[in-house]
Amino acid sequence: MTFRSFRAIAMTGTMLAMPAFGVAQGAAPRGNDVTIGAHGSQDNYRISTRSSELLQVARGTTIIDVSALPNGIFRIRIGRNSALPEDASWAVTPETRAQHAELRPSDDDTSLGVSTDAGRVSIDRATGAITVRDRNGATILTDVDAPYVAGKTGFRLVKKMTPGLHVFGLGDKMAPLDRRGYVWQNWNTDSYPFQERQDPLYKDIPFFIGFDKGRAYGVFMDNTWRSVFDFGVANPEEMSFGADGGAIDYYVMTGPTPKDVVKQYARLTGVPPLVPRWTFGFQQSRYSYPDDAAIRSIAKRLRHDRIPADVLWFDIDFQDRHRPFTVDTKAFPNFSGLMADLHKQNFKTVVITDLHIAAAPNQGYAPYDKGIASDVFLHNPDGSRFVGPVWPGPALFPDFTDQKAREYWGTLYNEFYVKDAIDGFWNDMNEPSVFIPIKTMPNDVVHRIDEPGFQTRTATHAEMHNVYGMENGRATYEAQIRLKPDQRPFVMMRASYAGGQRYSTTWTGDTTSSWNHMRLATPMLLSLGLSGFAYAGDNLGGFALSPPPDLLTKWLEIGMFNPIAEDHSDKGTRMQEPWVDGKAQEDIRRRYIEDRYKLLPYIYTIAEEASRTGIPMMRPLFLEFPTAAGGQVLDLQNPSEFMWGPDILVAPQVMPDTVDKYKVILPPGSWYDYWTGGLIENMDTAQATGNSGIQTAIVDDPAVAPHMLMVAPQLDTVPVYVRGGSIIPRQPLTQSTSETPKGALQLAVYTAPEMGGDLYTDDGTTFDYRKGGFFRQHFSGRSSGDRVTLTLEAPEGRYKPWWQTIDVTMFGVRTSSTPTINGAQVSKLRYDRAQRRLRFTIPYSSRATTMTVSLDR
Ligand code: NOJ
Repeated sequence: MTFRSFRAIAMTGTMLAMPAFGVAQGAAPRGNDVTIGAHGSQDNYRISTRSSELLQVARGTTIIDVSALPNGIFRIRIGRNSALPEDASWAVTPETRAQHAELRPSDDDTSLGVSTDAGRVSIDRATGAITVRDRNGATILTDVDAPYVAGKTGFRLVKKMTPGLHVFGLGDKMAPLDRRGYVWQNWNTDSYPFQERQDPLYKDIPFFIGFDKGRAYGVFMDNTWRSVFDFGVANPEEMSFGADGGAIDYYVMTGPTPKDVVKQYARLTGVPPLVPRWTFGFQQSRYSYPDDAAIRSIAKRLRHDRIPADVLWFDIDFQDRHRPFTVDTKAFPNFSGLMADLHKQNFKTVVITDLHIAAAPNQGYAPYDKGIASDVFLHNPDGSRFVGPVWPGPALFPDFTDQKAREYWGTLYNEFYVKDAIDGFWNDMNEPSVFIPIKTMPNDVVHRIDEPGFQTRTATHAEMHNVYGMENGRATYEAQIRLKPDQRPFVMMRASYAGGQRYSTTWTGDTTSSWNHMRLATPMLLSLGLSGFAYAGDNLGGFALSPPPDLLTKWLEIGMFNPIAEDHSDKGTRMQEPWVDGKAQEDIRRRYIEDRYKLLPYIYTIAEEASRTGIPMMRPLFLEFPTAAGGQVLDLQNPSEFMWGPDILVAPQVMPDTVDKYKVILPPGSWYDYWTGGLIENMDTAQATGNSGIQTAIVDDPAVAPHMLMVAPQLDTVPVYVRGGSIIPRQPLTQSTSETPKGALQLAVYTAPEMGGDLYTDDGTTFDYRKGGFFRQHFSGRSSGDRVTLTLEAPEGRYKPWWQTIDVTMFGVRTSSTPTINGAQVSKLRYDRAQRRLRFTIPYSSRATTMTVSLDR
């Protein structure tokens, strides 16, 4: 697509979505802009404070604070009225904000500045324009001509945008991956049933990654008010972002690689704590399974049809009149007994606990009575309680930014979590959704902030709206930790703010059962991953309306390579379980679900990596291959492709409702077919195809040249490839993650000159892994000439794995006779010459093992 047509679409999308917003759009001052930070006075900016932790400059009423955090992050705060805003944040903890990297003065004739090992921030003495440079002096981000533009109520920051910049992040916008060329809003909104480019959606994650020719940086604007990000719409050479109110407080992550930025953002806003292993099993849901018999029949059918599954969900109809924290005892006469029976069949249960508490005085409804007694519900400005209609009818809303309200909320789980042994909780509708035309509560509803690091004060809903849902998830998470300190919580929430990943998983909300929604689920999940939420899913099959059989099959196939694989559907739609379209479709669906269970050791390994580093499980290609094709974004060639962890590339159709062959881009290096283990040969070098192709000038270099395959779509196949050099752990099939696999651990070795892989496991449910109760092993290998060596390094941790033997399969092995192997006690050696596949079994050892395969060439 040409730049011109891209822009044309951008404008259309923007106009549809443009909000009533207190800050003028575009870079040039408009009627709404009252002052420009730089031009209020003829004097220069001067230093008011300088230390190893802070540079503060001021002019007139404008104050600019620059500080640095360790690991390549700068923080910039701007005060507009002779005072800095409150140094407080819902996203960045006080402990994180208290960490400092040492600043070195680096002024020059035109600017006042500071440097760290990561780069330099300078402030133009005359204009106050702020420039951030990397450690090599290259400009990362620079103001157009002033540190900010003030609006009547809010502000915006206007930065230059390089012509080659791609922009990623901002959470799960329903749009292609690249945010450039559009205006985006953040205002948590119940968006049923949203469609492509509808904006805002459920979350507010004011963080983006800029990527230009292999070099990346990140910007996080820590502001909970309604915000808008314009990437080149008002002016193609500029980006601007700002909010309706609140502090000007932003962080610049200096990268330089995209993974560095993602890790820096995780250091700033937190990593997602490791969820229970069953999170990665197949999950079946429906709005709603109406009664005890319905749920039991779903459980029975899953086991009968041998569709591996781990989780059953309970949507709102299990409750008495949709009142949170109740059970409809007519439909579910023995809820605890049901839970116990499901557990016996190795199912976990997740139940919905929405935050709207039915306004039901004098009815023995404890959540209402307790909430009134401890005065934890939100108020109108006149002091009355805010009441809004949601599922249970008129409802009250806990004031989640007040610790007291979070504690109250936590107590509501005592009964459910402990007595009924429910395994996880679902916080839906937490934008908060209110069934009135504005879809949420009015901006003047009064919240109370009682939170370490904040002044204790009241705040309007306009300030708290975007953070409200996250604090709901936080209250749920903290309650689970308090009630069962040894169990890893599972929380799923819909609305969130930056940092919500510390408490909860998430999903993309009320999608529609259409091919387009399936197509866009991939960029939505990728963007969530880049924006902190490594553990995310979408409703497989789509939520609203009913998927035709092929769509449900294809969606389930792709979903098995998503972090959370949950099939969920709307009331009134046809049933959506894997068996609904007959045996042929069910067989395909089962095969993909089974493959997920066999791949679980790898999946859990990448899940654990996410919990340590923030690197998402599902990754865009540019995250793994930032220098491919000279730093071009391969994802833009086939926007449906993605990496599942570091080594597996999933390449569904770009236009899944068409039958044409489509282009699969394979990044530089060798690739194997995941399904057959065959080395992909005869790959074409990706060629320029109009202006959406890869520039041939760059791909002449084989080290960075991507490859291209033309693939014919098939219903029963999602093309999946494995990076040459990967070593991937797998396991025998089980019907749930609670079952111990029987047999050997499997190691799939995709031979290449350099090889490597990892395996992590633990007990799957407790926090013992934090005290050494884990198993971590690194594998490495080399292949050259007539030798392949494979090393299984000594495992770390004290967790005892389930396997006693390891079945090794080496793919891409060429030899004229069955090879010999030294260094390990090898049994069951088999070589398949046609398939170039070598298999053998070795015993598990807690010591390092290196084996050498001698080939006969
Ligand atoms: C809206 C949620 O997005 C959906 O998943 C759920 O089924 C309904 N609320 C009913 O709880």
